[in-house]
Amino acid sequence: MKNIYSNIFSFNKKTLKKSVAILKSGNVLGLPTETVYGLAGNAYSKKSVNKIYKIKKRPKFNPLIVHYFKSQAAKKDVIFNENFLKLYKKFCPGPITFILKKNKKTKIKSSVTAGLDTVAIRFPKHRIVRAILKKINFPLAMPSANLSMGISPVSASDVADEFKKNIKVILNGGKSKIGIESTVIDLTSDPKILRPGIIGKETISKVLKISLAKKNLKIKSPGMLKKHYSPGIPILLNQKTYDKRYAFITIGHKYKDNKNCFNLSKKSDLKEAASNLYKTFRKIKKKGFKKIYVVKIPNKGPGIAINDRLKKAAN
Ligand code: TXA
Ligand code: MG
Repeated sequence: MKNIYSNIFSFNKKTLKKSVAILKSGNVLGLPTETVYGLAGNAYSKKSVNKIYKIKKRPKFNPLIVHYFKSQAAKKDVIFNENFLKLYKKFCPGPITFILKKNKKTKIKSSVTAGLDTVAIRFPKHRIVRAILKKINFPLAMPSANLSMGISPVSASDVADEFKKNIKVILNGGKSKIGIESTVIDLTSDPKILRPGIIGKETISKVLKISLAKKNLKIKSPGMLKKHYSPGIPILLNQKTYDKRYAFITIGHKYKDNKNCFNLSKKSDLKEAASNLYKTFRKIKKKGFKKIYVVKIPNKGPGIAINDRLKKAAN
C-alpha cells in the first residue's frame, strides 16, 4: 500500500539516526510502543516538554510519563523502593508505569511532573523505542500521541491523523500489540492502581498487595479524570440491542460483524478485545456514525481496563 503520509517513516539505521538527532535538538516525534503510540521528547529539555504540551493541547496540570531503557538510568531521577524493585523484576520492560518520589537531584523538568514531587516512570518493550532509548543519555517524556481527551493512537497513521502537519516524524512500528495504555501504579504509599491496564490487579497481587484506587478521591492521576479517551460522540454502555442508525460494539460469537456491528473479539478473548477497542472507535468515527451503543463487557481481567476506558469515553 502506498504511504500517503509524508511524515511516516519505516524504521532503519538512517531513521534511527535521524530520530536521535531530532530528540537531541529538543524536538519531538511520534514513536510506537507496545501499548499505544507516544509523542516523545527529552524529559530534561524544557523546549521539548513545552512542545509536547502544545502539540497535544494538554493542560499543564496533567503530568507526563518518563520512559527509560532500564532501571539503572532512572535511579538519578526517582527514589526506588522494594515494591518497585519487585514489580520491575517481574514485569519490565512492559506495559506498566510506576509513580515514585522524585529524587531532589533530578534533571527532569518540573513541567513534566506538573510540579508534583512524584514521577511516573515506565520501561517500554517495543523494539523501536528501546533502540532509541539505548542511543540517548536522557529519558523520554512521552504521553499518548493524541490530542488531549481523545483516543490513543494504535498505528502510525492514527498519529498522523491526530496531529496532521504539526509533527514531522512518526516511526512506523505496526499496530500496537496491546492497544490500551499501561497500567499506572502509585508506589509512594500502599500500592494502588490508578489506571487499570492489561497487567491487572490479580496478576500484580501475586507479587504484592495492591488495591484499585477509589474514584472521587482527590485526583492523583489526571488519567482518572472522568471524561477522557473520548471519540467525541455519545456512547451508551451495557446495551442489549441497538438502534440500526447507530454503531454497535459487541463481543462474542453471538454477534456478527456488519456495517453497524463491530465485534471486539468473536471468541470473547478480553485481551484481544482491549487491543481492538481504540481501533474500533476510530473506524466508527471515520464512518460518520453519530452514536455508539456498546454491549456489556465482562468486568474481569482485561475487561476491567476496557470498562474503565468505556466509562470515561461515555462520560
Ligand atoms: O502506555 C502508556 O502509558 C503510554 C505510552 C506512550 O507509554 N503513555 C500514556 O501517557 O498513556 P499519558 O500521558 O497519555 O498518560 C499518563 C497518565 C496520565 O493519566 C497522567 O495523569 C498519569 O499518567 N501521571 C503521570 N505522572 C503522574 C504522577 N506523577 N502522578 C500521578 N499520575 C501521573
Ligand atoms: Mg493519554
